Amino acid sequence: MELQKEINHRKTFAIISHPDAGKTTLTEKFLLFGGAIQVAGAVKSNKIKKSAASDFMDIERQRGISVATSVMAFHHRDKLINLLDTPGHKDFAEDTYRTLTAVDSVVLVIDCVKGVEEQTERLMEVCRMRDTPVIIFINKMDLEGRDAFDLLDELEEKLNIKVRPMSWPIGIGATFKGVYKLYDGNLNLFESDKQRVSEHVVTIDDINSEELEKYIGDAADTLREEVELINGVYDEFDNQAYNEGKLAPVFFGSAINNFGIQELLDKFVEIAPAPKGRPSNLRLVEPLEPRFSGFVFKIHANIDPRHRDRIAFVRVVSGKFERNKFYSHPRIGKQLKFANPATFMASAKNVVDEAFPGDVIGLYDTGNFKIGDTLTEGESLQFKGIPSFSPEIFKELVNKDPMKAKQLEKGIRQLTEEGVAQLFFIESGSRKIVGTVGELQFEVIQYRLENEYGAKCEFQPKSYYKACWITTTNQAKLDEFKRLKGNDIVTDKDGNDVFLAPSKFLLDMERQNYPELEFHFTSEFKVEEVQD
Ligand code: G4P
Repeated sequence: MELQKEINHRKTFAIISHPDAGKTTLTEKFLLFGGAIQVAGAVKSNKIKKSAASDFMDIERQRGISVATSVMAFHHRDKLINLLDTPGHKDFAEDTYRTLTAVDSVVLVIDCVKGVEEQTERLMEVCRMRDTPVIIFINKMDLEGRDAFDLLDELEEKLNIKVRPMSWPIGIGATFKGVYKLYDGNLNLFESDKQRVSEHVVTIDDINSEELEKYIGDAADTLREEVELINGVYDEFDNQAYNEGKLAPVFFGSAINNFGIQELLDKFVEIAPAPKGRPSNLRLVEPLEPRFSGFVFKIHANIDPRHRDRIAFVRVVSGKFERNKFYSHPRIGKQLKFANPATFMASAKNVVDEAFPGDVIGLYDTGNFKIGDTLTEGESLQFKGIPSFSPEIFKELVNKDPMKAKQLEKGIRQLTEEGVAQLFFIESGSRKIVGTVGELQFEVIQYRLENEYGAKCEFQPKSYYKACWITTTNQAKLDEFKRLKGNDIVTDKDGNDVFLAPSKFLLDMERQNYPELEFHFTSEFKVEEVQD
């Protein structure tokens, strides 16, 4: 069966990390070992060193609408691997969270010196929401990092997941000699060489034999003791538990030195899940269903005002997508066809004739799509699971040029549809609150509104603590609450009621005063009324 074969052939994943742990470096090394690029340095960092809108704009301009780095497809062994890029800047964390809805597994990079950092914990929380399988790569073993056992304990404790080392480091920093591969008893010997695209692996038949001393000298005894301890403390690696997001296999290496990459990639290809189904308002849609379906998880605008087109990134969930075929867009009740759908092979963008579950296709869009939209072969289904997360910073949008009110309105709607920020509407009028994860987005919005839409705006800071989506079965209580809270009650892009809590203290108080209401820091993607 063609579809089954295509599904089994694919793996779609993302590399995630706290900034600076080595995500960009590992991405590049995957492409290098996967044969998709020939030299290191070919993958441009999408990191913004300084928090300035102009830097961000420069990077966006360089990336252009081709956004070749958004999805990097390459082959390894007999698999087609779709690696989805996530932004390197913490202010764009929400973009990362949304991208995680489009992958079937992740590789989480940890800096061995710093251990679990703030962003690591938040990313893992998002992975936990969908039980996404996680492989952990502890990076920078060439530096004087923390004790490996301590790191594993910290992972289990802070990330709330069981771990199982798959390899074990021999020494660390200046004394780092390589890793012992716990499952095949091979030694992968460390050589600091950034150019080499292979690993020095030697087979050890028996860890107790003197052969071990030949390769790692004095470190042999410690390794024997530690391996015994590992086997006593950690359960055997269980593929099913990994697949259910309950157990994370752990590897050690040094991305910059091309060390531990082959091993990680080989194991990834072996254990990472094939494309999985996605829940919808009607049922769990399985990849093997013959009719095409997919959802938009990212929209990338061309910020060049002469080319106002956008690309909507669609993750294929089921069936086969075909070029020039009509598909339903249930939210707006339209039939659409796409003449130039794109896929992305490492650095090149190609027009594709067909795509299968697990693939990401870029569709040129003139304003039909927003994040979370579903495309189907006729069915009125709507995928779930693209939640909005409470922003951290809130500001009111103020128009500075009354002649350009329409442009401002259009601009802010389009930008927020792209997911640059979240837009909340104050019910009592046409006032709008913009919510973001970081300050940088406000600069970006202001810049883009002016440059792309000719609209001028200002932002007035609002000292809100969180956006809380409200759910209840008691409409009367909700109405009462809304009446009393006035301007702190807003609606989100889909018309959901949201309470902008001024402080944690006041939120806790409301929780006590209104036990009938539930306040959530995330909104599951709203299932809208769909028309056929
Ligand atoms: P990120 O995408 O997660 O933010 O991290 P990135 O790969 O950019 O890596 C952050 C820094 O860590 C980079 O140094 C990179 O060279 C370094 N790095 C990555 N892997 C290793 C490793 O295995 N060992 C050591 N010692 N360093 C590593 P930088 O100075 O910030 O940038 P650059 O000037 O080297 O590009």
